Amino acid sequence: MKVDVLLGLQWGDEGKGKVVDVLTPKYDVVARFQGGPNAGHTLEFEGEKYVLRSIPSGIFQGDKINIIGNGVVLDPALFKTEVEALEASGHKLTTKLLISKKAHLILPTHRLLDAAYETAKGNDKIGTTGKGIGPAYTDKISRNGLRVGDLLHNFDQKYAAATARHKSILLQYNYSVNDLERLEKEWFEGIEKLKEFQFIDSEHVANMYINHKKSILAEGAQGTMLDIDFGSYPFVTSSNTISAGVCTGLGIAPNRIGEVFGIFKAYCTRVGSGPFPTELMDETGQKMRDLGYEYGSVTGRPRRCGWLDLVALKYAIMINGVTQLIMMKSDVLDDFDTINVCVAYKINGQEISYFPFETDAVIEPIYAELPGWKSAMSGMKHQNEFPEEFNAYIHFIENELNTSITIVSVGADREQTIFLPKK
Ligand code: GDP
Ligand code: IMO
Ligand code: MG
Repeated sequence: MKVDVLLGLQWGDEGKGKVVDVLTPKYDVVARFQGGPNAGHTLEFEGEKYVLRSIPSGIFQGDKINIIGNGVVLDPALFKTEVEALEASGHKLTTKLLISKKAHLILPTHRLLDAAYETAKGNDKIGTTGKGIGPAYTDKISRNGLRVGDLLHNFDQKYAAATARHKSILLQYNYSVNDLERLEKEWFEGIEKLKEFQFIDSEHVANMYINHKKSILAEGAQGTMLDIDFGSYPFVTSSNTISAGVCTGLGIAPNRIGEVFGIFKAYCTRVGSGPFPTELMDETGQKMRDLGYEYGSVTGRPRRCGWLDLVALKYAIMINGVTQLIMMKSDVLDDFDTINVCVAYKINGQEISYFPFETDAVIEPIYAELPGWKSAMSGMKHQNEFPEEFNAYIHFIENELNTSITIVSVGADREQTIFLPKK
């Protein structure tokens, strides 16, 4: 039995939560392998809308097991808020959500450090989500982190040592800790909530499931272009968002990876700073933002919008070993007369077809122009309803990327999902 992976190929917010929910009935287990509450995964069904941050998106499909893996960083305070919101709407989680003892904890001081580092960057801010992600992963790598399993042994001592160290850094940055008492109160209440859940050795549990022929879907957060190694560094997140992250973030061997579902929007968006070659700063970009409701599901920040970028997508497919593509938000482009697709870049007059190292390079996108379909996709249920121009858009992308699109999403609801045969 192989572990399938679903991950973002762009700059996050591709619609991962929606599709994980749709695919969950085919699996026994859904597992998050990296990231933390910087994620905001939106699901809509039966007239309700949910935004998940740390909890995997398989949580709404019956009694499927959901795992928060060792590669995730967890903030107990935000976790408590998330759990309580779900409990209030009638969803009981404690029997089906398991948490790795090796997942690292985001401390209140990590959040303050995130803000302090951003402030110190002046005009070169990354535009982080402010959730303490970078500082928590920094402590993990520098071997100073606290893990979920540590809650069971001498925790107060370890916590005191970590916060003392963080406070001395905050002092150097001249950053106020006035808010800390309030944050700590919420955090320790969160710890009590967290303790209602089962802490597990998730690598053993995941491999036990595989050996017992149970199927697992690994759910990515963020996107490939935000990967710490392969994204547009330093404008990235602090984890490996790519398929390799499944191996380190769940303890699953590379030869256990099966299908890799690569998910992308029919156009592009990005929140935060950093290169975005096809960005539209004009009314076309605003039209995408309005029609796609492109505002962050966690922060509410307006997302930057632009045309589909096949150079970036080819790169993401290569890095992840994508076997199937999923195209989201097709309906957002319903009303465009023509649609541009970037097929190459020009830098200093020279055409290139790869994502450059330099984050400050002036990149001119080279576009292919395709006719718009000018019809409403959101009510469509089957591929044979697709307008000719939409089929042409899909075929153009598949030919350029040499990979099949097997799911097309035409609206936010679970039901607005159309499956296509793999070619
Ligand atoms: P994620 O982080 O990858 O899970 O994506 P987000 O939830 O942050 O952002 C995707 C947004 O698009 C959410 O508001 C979804 O409800 C919405 N969405 C998902 N698929 C579609 C679609 O096909 N059409 C439209 N119009 N909205 C969609
Ligand atoms: P989902 O899972 C979109 C971006 C932030 C910032 C950079 C670093 O919902 O797709 P961080 O807080 O991780 O240190 O911020 O990464 N970012 C996301 N953008 N979707 C996300 O998650 C993101 N998580 C982080 O905006 O540019
Ligand atoms: Mg999101």
